[in-house]
Amino acid sequence: MKFSQSSLTWYTFPNLSLQHLLQREYTNTCKGRYLKKEIWRCLTRPTCSAPAFPAGRITALQALDVWKRHFVENGVTEPEQSSQYIIAHLLGAKTIESVEQQRLAEFLSKEETQQVWRLCSKRLSRMPVQFVIEEWDFRDLTLKMRPPVFIPRPETEELVELVLTDLQNHPGSTETTPTCLEVGCGSGAISLSLLKSLPQVKVTLSMIFKNIFLVLLLCCCFFCRLGLQDRLKVYHMDVIKEQMPGLFSSISVLVSNPPYLFSEDMATLEPEISRFEDRAALDGGEDGLNVIRQILTLAPDFLSNRGRIYLEVDPRHPALIRRWVEDNVEELRFVETRQDVSGKSVLQRDQHTFQEF
Ligand SMILES: C[S@@+](CC[C@H](N)C(=O)[O-])C[C@H]1O[C@@H](n2cnc3c(N)ncnc32)[C@H](O)[C@@H]1O
Repeated sequence: MKFSQSSLTWYTFPNLSLQHLLQREYTNTCKGRYLKKEIWRCLTRPTCSAPAFPAGRITALQALDVWKRHFVENGVTEPEQSSQYIIAHLLGAKTIESVEQQRLAEFLSKEETQQVWRLCSKRLSRMPVQFVIEEWDFRDLTLKMRPPVFIPRPETEELVELVLTDLQNHPGSTETTPTCLEVGCGSGAISLSLLKSLPQVKVTLSMIFKNIFLVLLLCCCFFCRLGLQDRLKVYHMDVIKEQMPGLFSSISVLVSNPPYLFSEDMATLEPEISRFEDRAALDGGEDGLNVIRQILTLAPDFLSNRGRIYLEVDPRHPALIRRWVEDNVEELRFVETRQDVSGKSVLQRDQHTFQEF
Protein backbone atom coordinates (compact mmCIF):
# COMPACT_ATOMS: atom_id res chain seq x y z
CA MET A 1 0.00 0.00 0.00
CA LYS A 2 1.41 3.36 -0.91
CA PHE A 3 0.62 6.81 0.40
CA SER A 4 1.36 10.00 -1.40
CA GLN A 5 3.09 12.66 0.66
CA SER A 6 0.04 14.88 0.66
CA SER A 7 -2.23 12.19 1.97
CA LEU A 8 -0.13 11.91 5.10
CA THR A 9 0.21 15.50 6.17
CA TRP A 10 -3.24 15.91 7.61
CA TYR A 11 -2.51 13.91 10.70
CA THR A 12 -1.33 16.02 13.60
CA PHE A 13 0.69 14.39 16.30
CA PRO A 14 2.18 15.99 19.35
CA ASN A 15 5.93 16.45 18.73
CA LEU A 16 5.96 14.08 15.81
CA SER A 17 5.01 14.34 12.18
CA LEU A 18 3.01 11.48 10.83
CA GLN A 19 5.68 10.75 8.28
CA HIS A 20 8.35 10.28 10.97
CA LEU A 21 5.99 8.22 13.02
CA LEU A 22 5.21 5.95 10.11
CA GLN A 23 8.89 5.61 9.22
CA ARG A 24 9.75 4.67 12.79
CA GLU A 25 6.90 2.22 13.02
CA TYR A 26 7.77 0.79 9.62
CA THR A 27 11.37 0.16 10.72
CA ASN A 28 10.15 -1.52 13.88
CA THR A 29 7.68 -3.51 11.85
CA CYS A 30 10.42 -4.74 9.50
CA LYS A 31 12.67 -5.74 12.41
CA GLY A 32 9.96 -7.85 13.90
CA ARG A 33 8.67 -9.13 10.61
CA TYR A 34 10.23 -12.59 10.75
CA LEU A 35 9.00 -13.19 14.28
CA LYS A 36 5.53 -11.91 13.43
CA LYS A 37 5.36 -14.15 10.37
CA GLU A 38 6.15 -17.14 12.54
CA ILE A 39 3.53 -16.21 15.16
CA TRP A 40 1.03 -15.62 12.38
CA ARG A 41 1.76 -18.99 10.79
CA CYS A 42 1.03 -20.68 14.12
CA LEU A 43 -2.17 -18.70 14.68
CA THR A 44 -3.65 -19.47 11.31
CA ARG A 45 -2.58 -23.09 11.18
CA PRO A 46 -5.82 -25.11 11.27
CA THR A 47 -5.93 -27.52 14.20
CA CYS A 48 -7.87 -29.90 11.94
CA SER A 49 -7.48 -30.57 8.25
CA ALA A 50 -9.61 -29.20 5.44
CA PRO A 51 -11.99 -31.51 3.54
CA ALA A 52 -10.31 -33.19 0.58
CA PHE A 53 -9.91 -30.90 -2.41
CA PRO A 54 -12.56 -31.98 -4.95
CA ALA A 55 -11.29 -34.27 -7.69
CA GLY A 56 -13.79 -32.88 -10.20
CA ARG A 57 -15.62 -29.59 -10.56
CA ILE A 58 -18.10 -28.40 -7.96
CA THR A 59 -20.68 -25.63 -7.83
CA ALA A 60 -20.80 -22.81 -5.32
CA LEU A 61 -23.82 -24.46 -3.70
CA GLN A 62 -21.90 -27.72 -3.27
CA ALA A 63 -18.90 -25.85 -1.85
CA LEU A 64 -21.23 -24.11 0.60
CA ASP A 65 -22.58 -27.43 1.75
CA VAL A 66 -19.17 -29.13 2.06
CA TRP A 67 -17.73 -26.32 4.14
CA LYS A 68 -20.83 -25.80 6.28
CA ARG A 69 -20.76 -29.48 7.26
CA HIS A 70 -17.02 -29.38 7.86
CA PHE A 71 -17.32 -26.32 10.09
CA VAL A 72 -20.13 -28.00 12.05
CA GLU A 73 -18.07 -31.19 12.51
CA ASN A 74 -15.12 -29.19 13.76
CA GLY A 75 -17.02 -26.94 16.15
CA VAL A 76 -16.52 -23.70 14.21
CA THR A 77 -19.07 -21.14 15.37
CA GLU A 78 -21.66 -19.82 12.90
CA PRO A 79 -20.84 -22.55 10.36
CA GLU A 80 -23.48 -21.65 7.79
CA GLN A 81 -22.92 -17.89 7.87
CA SER A 82 -19.16 -18.40 7.71
CA SER A 83 -19.22 -20.43 4.50
CA GLN A 84 -21.87 -18.12 3.04
CA TYR A 85 -19.91 -14.92 3.73
CA ILE A 86 -16.69 -16.37 2.32
CA ILE A 87 -18.21 -17.77 -0.85
CA ALA A 88 -20.36 -14.68 -1.43
CA HIS A 89 -17.20 -12.57 -1.05
CA LEU A 90 -15.40 -14.70 -3.64
CA LEU A 91 -18.31 -14.25 -6.02
CA GLY A 92 -18.11 -10.48 -5.57
CA ALA A 93 -21.16 -10.08 -3.32
CA LYS A 94 -21.77 -9.14 0.32
CA THR A 95 -24.33 -11.83 1.07
CA ILE A 96 -25.21 -15.16 -0.45
CA GLU A 97 -28.81 -13.97 -0.88
CA SER A 98 -27.61 -11.28 -3.27
CA VAL A 99 -25.87 -13.81 -5.56
CA GLU A 100 -28.00 -14.98 -8.45
CA GLN A 101 -29.29 -18.56 -8.08
CA GLN A 102 -27.92 -19.39 -11.50
CA ARG A 103 -24.40 -18.32 -10.48
CA LEU A 104 -24.62 -20.45 -7.35
CA ALA A 105 -25.57 -23.45 -9.45
CA GLU A 106 -22.70 -22.96 -11.93
CA PHE A 107 -19.39 -24.79 -11.60
CA LEU A 108 -16.60 -22.84 -9.92
CA SER A 109 -13.35 -22.52 -11.83
CA LYS A 110 -10.32 -24.36 -10.44
CA GLU A 111 -8.91 -21.03 -9.17
CA GLU A 112 -12.19 -20.15 -7.48
CA THR A 113 -12.31 -23.57 -5.82
CA GLN A 114 -8.73 -23.14 -4.62
CA GLN A 115 -9.66 -19.74 -3.19
CA VAL A 116 -12.67 -21.23 -1.39
CA TRP A 117 -10.41 -23.90 0.15
CA ARG A 118 -7.75 -21.35 1.10
CA LEU A 119 -10.14 -18.89 2.77
CA CYS A 120 -12.33 -21.51 4.42
CA SER A 121 -9.18 -23.16 5.83
CA LYS A 122 -8.40 -19.84 7.53
CA ARG A 123 -11.86 -19.87 9.05
CA LEU A 124 -11.20 -23.46 10.17
CA SER A 125 -8.27 -22.09 12.18
CA ARG A 126 -10.97 -20.00 13.96
CA MET A 127 -9.97 -16.75 12.27
CA PRO A 128 -13.06 -14.50 12.35
CA VAL A 129 -14.76 -14.29 8.99
CA GLN A 130 -14.19 -10.51 8.99
CA PHE A 131 -10.42 -11.10 8.94
CA VAL A 132 -10.74 -13.90 6.39
CA ILE A 133 -12.49 -11.69 3.86
CA GLU A 134 -10.50 -8.63 5.08
CA GLU A 135 -13.45 -6.26 5.22
CA TRP A 136 -16.62 -5.66 7.19
CA ASP A 137 -19.57 -3.30 7.04
CA PHE A 138 -20.27 -0.82 9.80
CA ARG A 139 -23.38 1.27 9.12
CA ASP A 140 -22.90 2.55 5.57
CA LEU A 141 -19.14 2.00 5.53
CA THR A 142 -17.08 -0.96 4.39
CA LEU A 143 -14.01 -1.05 6.60
CA LYS A 144 -10.70 -2.84 6.00
CA MET A 145 -10.14 -5.53 8.60
CA ARG A 146 -6.73 -6.86 9.63
CA PRO A 147 -5.96 -8.72 12.84
CA PRO A 148 -5.54 -7.73 15.61
CA VAL A 149 -7.50 -4.49 15.05
CA PHE A 150 -10.82 -4.72 16.89
CA ILE A 151 -13.73 -5.78 14.66
CA PRO A 152 -16.56 -3.23 15.11
CA ARG A 153 -19.67 -4.83 16.61
CA PRO A 154 -23.33 -4.22 15.65
CA GLU A 155 -24.16 -2.77 19.08
CA THR A 156 -21.63 0.00 18.45
CA GLU A 157 -23.72 1.07 15.46
CA GLU A 158 -26.42 1.88 17.99
CA LEU A 159 -23.98 3.95 20.02
CA VAL A 160 -23.17 5.96 16.89
CA GLU A 161 -26.86 6.35 16.11
CA LEU A 162 -27.50 7.73 19.58
CA VAL A 163 -24.65 10.26 19.32
CA LEU A 164 -25.77 11.34 15.85
CA THR A 165 -29.37 11.82 16.92
CA ASP A 166 -28.33 13.86 19.94
CA LEU A 167 -25.91 15.97 17.94
CA GLN A 168 -28.66 16.72 15.44
CA ASN A 169 -31.22 17.53 18.13
CA HIS A 170 -28.91 19.34 20.56
CA PRO A 171 -26.00 20.67 18.54
CA GLY A 172 -24.89 22.84 21.48
CA SER A 173 -25.57 26.47 22.29
CA THR A 174 -22.47 28.26 21.08
CA GLU A 175 -20.64 25.60 19.14
CA THR A 176 -21.08 26.10 15.43
CA THR A 177 -18.62 23.26 14.82
CA PRO A 178 -19.19 20.54 17.40
CA THR A 179 -15.97 18.74 18.22
CA CYS A 180 -16.01 15.07 19.12
CA LEU A 181 -13.30 13.09 20.81
CA GLU A 182 -13.19 9.34 20.46
CA VAL A 183 -11.05 7.43 22.94
CA GLY A 184 -9.77 4.10 21.60
CA CYS A 185 -10.50 4.16 17.90
CA GLY A 186 -9.79 0.58 16.74
CA SER A 187 -10.62 0.51 13.04
CA GLY A 188 -11.92 4.09 13.23
CA ALA A 189 -15.51 2.92 12.76
CA ILE A 190 -17.16 5.37 15.19
CA SER A 191 -15.22 8.45 14.09
CA LEU A 192 -15.59 7.67 10.41
CA SER A 193 -19.33 7.36 10.84
CA LEU A 194 -19.63 10.64 12.74
CA LEU A 195 -17.53 12.51 10.21
CA LYS A 196 -19.34 11.01 7.26
CA SER A 197 -22.83 11.64 8.65
CA LEU A 198 -22.33 15.15 10.01
CA PRO A 199 -20.43 17.48 7.68
CA GLN A 200 -20.21 20.16 10.38
CA VAL A 201 -18.48 17.94 12.95
CA LYS A 202 -14.76 17.73 13.72
CA VAL A 203 -13.31 14.62 15.30
CA THR A 204 -10.24 13.92 17.34
CA LEU A 205 -9.17 10.35 17.80
CA SER A 206 -7.00 8.94 20.47
CA MET A 207 -5.65 5.48 20.07
CA ILE A 208 -3.42 3.07 21.81
CA PHE A 209 -2.06 0.37 19.69
CA LYS A 210 1.41 -1.06 19.64
CA ASN A 211 1.36 -1.53 15.91
CA ILE A 212 0.21 2.00 15.17
CA PHE A 213 1.56 1.58 11.65
CA LEU A 214 -1.11 -0.97 10.87
CA VAL A 215 -3.91 1.10 12.37
CA LEU A 216 -2.82 4.17 10.50
CA LEU A 217 -2.65 2.33 7.23
CA LEU A 218 -6.19 1.10 7.68
CA CYS A 219 -7.63 4.38 8.93
CA CYS A 220 -5.67 6.63 6.55
CA CYS A 221 -7.04 4.90 3.49
CA PHE A 222 -10.58 5.41 4.58
CA PHE A 223 -10.34 8.94 5.84
CA CYS A 224 -8.57 9.97 2.63
CA ARG A 225 -10.85 8.03 0.34
CA LEU A 226 -13.90 9.59 1.93
CA GLY A 227 -12.29 13.03 1.93
CA LEU A 228 -12.65 13.37 5.70
CA GLN A 229 -9.02 14.11 6.54
CA ASP A 230 -9.41 17.87 7.06
CA ARG A 231 -11.75 17.40 9.97
CA LEU A 232 -9.64 14.89 11.84
CA LYS A 233 -6.74 14.83 14.29
CA VAL A 234 -5.18 11.66 15.65
CA TYR A 235 -3.21 11.27 18.87
CA HIS A 236 -1.35 8.13 19.73
CA MET A 237 -1.68 7.93 23.48
CA ASP A 238 -2.53 5.74 26.41
CA VAL A 239 -5.24 7.51 28.40
CA ILE A 240 -4.23 5.60 31.51
CA LYS A 241 -0.65 6.84 31.40
CA GLU A 242 -0.96 10.27 29.84
CA GLN A 243 -2.84 13.14 31.39
CA MET A 244 -3.55 14.92 28.07
CA PRO A 245 -2.92 18.38 29.57
CA GLY A 246 -4.01 21.12 27.19
CA LEU A 247 -4.39 18.76 24.25
CA PHE A 248 -8.14 19.01 24.03
CA SER A 249 -10.60 21.72 24.92
CA SER A 250 -14.25 22.54 24.29
CA ILE A 251 -15.13 18.98 23.35
CA SER A 252 -18.88 18.71 22.73
CA VAL A 253 -19.04 14.93 22.64
CA LEU A 254 -16.70 12.35 24.08
CA VAL A 255 -17.55 8.93 22.74
CA SER A 256 -15.86 5.65 23.53
CA ASN A 257 -16.31 1.94 23.20
CA PRO A 258 -13.52 1.25 25.68
CA PRO A 259 -12.14 -2.11 26.73
CA TYR A 260 -14.81 -3.05 29.28
CA LEU A 261 -14.67 -6.81 29.84
CA PHE A 262 -14.02 -8.00 33.36
CA SER A 263 -10.58 -9.67 33.38
CA GLU A 264 -12.06 -12.92 34.68
CA ASP A 265 -14.34 -13.10 31.61
CA MET A 266 -11.38 -13.02 29.24
CA ALA A 267 -10.84 -16.75 29.81
CA THR A 268 -14.31 -17.56 28.46
CA LEU A 269 -13.90 -15.81 25.11
CA GLU A 270 -14.25 -17.79 21.90
CA PRO A 271 -10.93 -18.46 20.10
CA GLU A 272 -12.02 -16.08 17.34
CA ILE A 273 -11.75 -13.24 19.84
CA SER A 274 -9.04 -14.38 22.23
CA ARG A 275 -6.60 -15.46 19.53
CA PHE A 276 -7.16 -12.85 16.86
CA GLU A 277 -8.20 -9.59 18.53
CA ASP A 278 -6.03 -7.33 20.64
CA ARG A 279 -6.35 -8.09 24.36
CA ALA A 280 -5.90 -4.39 25.13
CA ALA A 281 -9.09 -3.67 23.19
CA LEU A 282 -11.10 -5.99 25.39
CA ASP A 283 -9.74 -6.35 28.92
CA GLY A 284 -10.99 -3.54 31.16
CA GLY A 285 -9.29 -4.85 34.30
CA GLU A 286 -10.71 -6.55 37.37
CA ASP A 287 -14.07 -4.72 37.26
CA GLY A 288 -13.86 -3.72 33.59
CA LEU A 289 -13.60 -0.07 34.57
CA ASN A 290 -9.88 0.74 34.24
CA VAL A 291 -10.16 2.86 31.11
CA ILE A 292 -13.70 4.07 31.88
CA ARG A 293 -12.67 5.55 35.27
CA GLN A 294 -9.79 7.35 33.61
CA ILE A 295 -11.99 8.78 30.86
CA LEU A 296 -14.51 10.05 33.43
CA THR A 297 -11.76 11.54 35.59
CA LEU A 298 -10.13 13.44 32.73
CA ALA A 299 -13.29 14.46 30.88
CA PRO A 300 -14.28 17.58 32.91
CA ASP A 301 -10.95 19.22 31.95
CA PHE A 302 -11.74 19.29 28.28
CA LEU A 303 -15.52 18.94 27.89
CA SER A 304 -17.38 22.09 26.89
CA ASN A 305 -20.05 23.41 29.23
CA ARG A 306 -22.72 21.45 27.48
CA GLY A 307 -20.45 18.53 26.74
CA ARG A 308 -21.65 14.94 26.91
CA ILE A 309 -19.98 11.56 27.31
CA TYR A 310 -21.25 8.44 25.60
CA LEU A 311 -19.84 5.08 26.63
CA GLU A 312 -20.56 1.53 25.56
CA VAL A 313 -20.26 -0.58 28.70
CA ASP A 314 -21.07 -3.96 30.19
CA PRO A 315 -24.64 -4.50 31.51
CA ARG A 316 -23.19 -4.71 35.05
CA HIS A 317 -21.56 -1.30 34.75
CA PRO A 318 -24.20 1.45 34.81
CA ALA A 319 -24.93 1.23 38.54
CA LEU A 320 -21.21 0.97 39.35
CA ILE A 321 -20.33 3.89 37.13
CA ARG A 322 -23.12 6.05 38.46
CA ARG A 323 -22.04 5.50 42.07
CA TRP A 324 -18.39 6.04 41.23
CA VAL A 325 -19.07 9.30 39.38
CA GLU A 326 -21.22 10.63 42.24
CA ASP A 327 -18.39 9.91 44.68
CA ASN A 328 -15.49 11.06 42.56
CA VAL A 329 -16.33 13.50 39.76
CA GLU A 330 -18.61 16.23 40.94
CA GLU A 331 -18.59 18.06 37.59
CA LEU A 332 -20.40 15.21 35.85
CA ARG A 333 -24.03 14.31 36.11
CA PHE A 334 -25.44 10.96 35.00
CA VAL A 335 -28.17 11.29 32.39
CA GLU A 336 -29.39 7.91 31.23
CA THR A 337 -28.67 4.32 30.30
CA ARG A 338 -29.96 2.70 27.13
CA GLN A 339 -30.10 -1.01 26.48
CA ASP A 340 -28.96 -2.05 23.05
CA VAL A 341 -30.78 -4.53 20.83
CA SER A 342 -28.50 -7.46 21.62
CA GLY A 343 -29.25 -6.89 25.31
CA LYS A 344 -25.56 -7.51 25.93
CA SER A 345 -24.23 -4.07 26.49
CA VAL A 346 -25.60 -0.81 27.66
CA LEU A 347 -25.01 2.72 26.59
CA GLN A 348 -24.46 5.14 29.33
CA ARG A 349 -24.55 8.81 28.82
CA ASP A 350 -23.20 11.35 31.25
CA GLN A 351 -23.19 15.06 30.85
CA HIS A 352 -21.24 17.94 32.14
CA THR A 353 -23.01 19.59 35.06
CA PHE A 354 -23.48 22.83 33.25
CA GLN A 355 -25.46 21.34 30.49
CA GLU A 356 -29.15 22.04 30.48
CA PHE A 357 -30.72 19.01 28.96
C1 LIG B 1 -13.37 -2.26 22.23
S1 LIG B 1 -12.16 -1.52 21.21
C2 LIG B 1 -13.17 -0.36 20.34
C3 LIG B 1 -12.61 0.03 18.99
C4 LIG B 1 -13.56 0.91 18.15
N1 LIG B 1 -13.85 2.15 18.80
C5 LIG B 1 -14.86 0.18 17.86
O1 LIG B 1 -15.85 0.44 18.52
O2 LIG B 1 -14.86 -0.68 16.96
C6 LIG B 1 -11.28 -0.54 22.39
C7 LIG B 1 -10.20 0.36 21.82
O3 LIG B 1 -9.61 1.10 22.90
C8 LIG B 1 -8.20 1.12 22.76
N2 LIG B 1 -7.62 1.28 24.10
C9 LIG B 1 -7.50 0.34 25.06
N3 LIG B 1 -6.89 0.85 26.14
C10 LIG B 1 -6.62 2.17 25.86
C11 LIG B 1 -5.96 3.21 26.57
N4 LIG B 1 -5.47 3.02 27.78
N5 LIG B 1 -5.82 4.42 25.95
C12 LIG B 1 -6.32 4.61 24.70
N6 LIG B 1 -6.95 3.66 23.98
C13 LIG B 1 -7.10 2.45 24.56
C14 LIG B 1 -7.88 -0.23 22.11
O4 LIG B 1 -6.62 -0.19 21.44
C15 LIG B 1 -9.05 -0.39 21.15
O5 LIG B 1 -8.77 0.22 19.91
